[in-house]
Amino acid sequence: MSVWSHAGKKVLVIGCYSGIGRAVAEELVRLGAVVHGIDWKPVDNPGLSAFTLCDLRDIGSIDAALTEIQGPLDAVYYCSGLPQTHAAADVVTVNFINMRYCIEQVRTKIRDGGAIAVIASTAGNGWVNRAALITEFVATPDHVSAQAWVEPRLAGVGDPYSFSKEAVIAWGMRESAHILANRGIRLNLLSPGPTISGMTPDFDSFAGPKVIDVYTQPLGRRSLPEEQAWPLIFLNSDAASYVNGCNFIADAGFTAGMATGQIDLDRLLAEAAA
Ligand SMILES: NC(=O)c1ccc[n+]([C@@H]2O[C@H](COP(=O)([O-])OP(=O)(O)OC[C@H]3O[C@@H](n4cnc5c(N)ncnc54)[C@H](O)[C@@H]3O)[C@@H](O)[C@H]2O)c1
Repeated sequence: MSVWSHAGKKVLVIGCYSGIGRAVAEELVRLGAVVHGIDWKPVDNPGLSAFTLCDLRDIGSIDAALTEIQGPLDAVYYCSGLPQTHAAADVVTVNFINMRYCIEQVRTKIRDGGAIAVIASTAGNGWVNRAALITEFVATPDHVSAQAWVEPRLAGVGDPYSFSKEAVIAWGMRESAHILANRGIRLNLLSPGPTISGMTPDFDSFAGPKVIDVYTQPLGRRSLPEEQAWPLIFLNSDAASYVNGCNFIADAGFTAGMATGQIDLDRLLAEAAA
């Protein structure tokens, strides 16, 4: 069978109501996969083989939803997320703490050699600048200790969205090292740049559209959700059988431009603010 084939593959897409997760679910259905979707908003997609309502802020809701998942799964996609227009505690919980819980719980339903892909963000690029703090957070052993660690620190960590995405990247890269203990199940991350999705109005109202557009350099346009879904599906496909612990950056070259000193962020932000 072709490494690109998804015919008959059984996958779980967490966060399939809108944006990138919706595009992932629709593309996987087109590719012939059997797709089970999860979201806190009801999804009317006749292509899904099953759908389960779940509020990822709530451990009880996650536990109940996961009992409905029939394994063995070939792949799991975690596409849910909340922007910083929501309560900081919810942002960190949905983006990192309960994401990690979900992945740990659902892993037993993934076949040996399967794959997991989690959406991070270029908003988490700065994790190396405070690696000690982020590592302390992601080293908490479970969701209870993670909540206890973060609660008294929330006011001091800055933007909760960036903080949560820094944690996703640091955790994902650490966790992928345990691939052999985890029955060969690969774990990869996708870091999108600005993408047109359900979060667009939130980001635009929080930072202003001109500031968000700065981060679309050097291409100069926001991505479509499917332009993030395609690399995400690649990461979970057999075509990526040797790809593990990768933080795949799909940002039109912004991170590369910054790393090579070719994007003058301060100047662009000042122009956007003028
Ligand atoms: N849009 C961007 O510019 C951008 C950039 C980088 C990273 N991301 C990340 O991409 C991922 C997908 O976001 P998107 O841009 O497609 O936005 P989106 O808002 O369209 O999708 C997020 C999905 O998560 C679901 N969700 C949110 N809270 C939930 C909860 N408590 N329980 C269950 N489901 C919940 C939403 O219903 C929705 O289906 C997120 O992790 C986001 O942080 C987005």
